[in-house]
Amino acid sequence: MTYTGPQDFVTPVELDVEEINATVAQFKLAAQFAVAAGFDGVEVHSANGYLIDQFLRDGSNQRSDTYGGSPEARFRFLAEVLNAVTAVWPTHRVGVRLSPENSFNDMHDSDPQKHFGQFAQWLSPLNLAYLHVLEGDMMTQGCKVDYQQMRAAFGGIYMANNGYSKESAQAAIRSGAADLVAFGTPFLANPDLVRRFREDLPLNTPDHASFYGGNDRGYIDYPSHEGPVSP
Ligand SMILES: Cc1cc2nc3c(=O)[nH]c(=O)nc-3n(C[C@H](O)[C@H](O)[C@H](O)COP(=O)(O)O)c2cc1C
Repeated sequence: MTYTGPQDFVTPVELDVEEINATVAQFKLAAQFAVAAGFDGVEVHSANGYLIDQFLRDGSNQRSDTYGGSPEARFRFLAEVLNAVTAVWPTHRVGVRLSPENSFNDMHDSDPQKHFGQFAQWLSPLNLAYLHVLEGDMMTQGCKVDYQQMRAAFGGIYMANNGYSKESAQAAIRSGAADLVAFGTPFLANPDLVRRFREDLPLNTPDHASFYGGNDRGYIDYPSHEGPVSP
């Protein structure tokens, strides 16, 4: 199957409060499963147009109840999820992922600098493991938000993502712009990315045509480097 572009979908409807409570309970259950599975921690995915992000950004959140309108109200769902998840995990084992200006999934916000700066500030006292931020727009590679301001508002460990290479990641860490850097595409195309970075080995070229595809090619068939592992 090849990706054929946007499909017709039903128009999403708002969750009612009972459904919100049930969803928060599902996050808690997932956190409990992660404990049972022996994970080191969990990341609460609040980015890229998935459910929590739909509450955070004013382009999608059209609610008129206590979960919509002001930034405080849009943050409420994430706050409730974090409350549930940190009842299971110690806060220093819980990370949060945000994507203030990523337009993936048709997302937008009227003032990502201001709103996500506030969200970062409200996450600050929770003593989370880290804040993971997809910087800029994955679709256009545009970047208007000052992420250092957001980082300062959070004050804790900051994980940067989007478009980093080994070199630019090292530079970001050296300069103090980030504490950690996450990789998406390089990991997708290189199952042994850590080794390749460590040993300065060449990287496989990602096949963009097979991204988001749906057939059996492109996710698990990139080769590992064949040479012997350096000591
Ligand atoms: C094929 C592909 C699938 C992805 N799937 C997801 C996903 O399911 N959820 C998500 O939040 N991000 C997803 N991403 C985004 C990555 O997590 C990452 O944020 C993005 O690729 C930018 O990092 P990079 O420049 O290192 O690739 C995906 C990226 C690619 C290329």
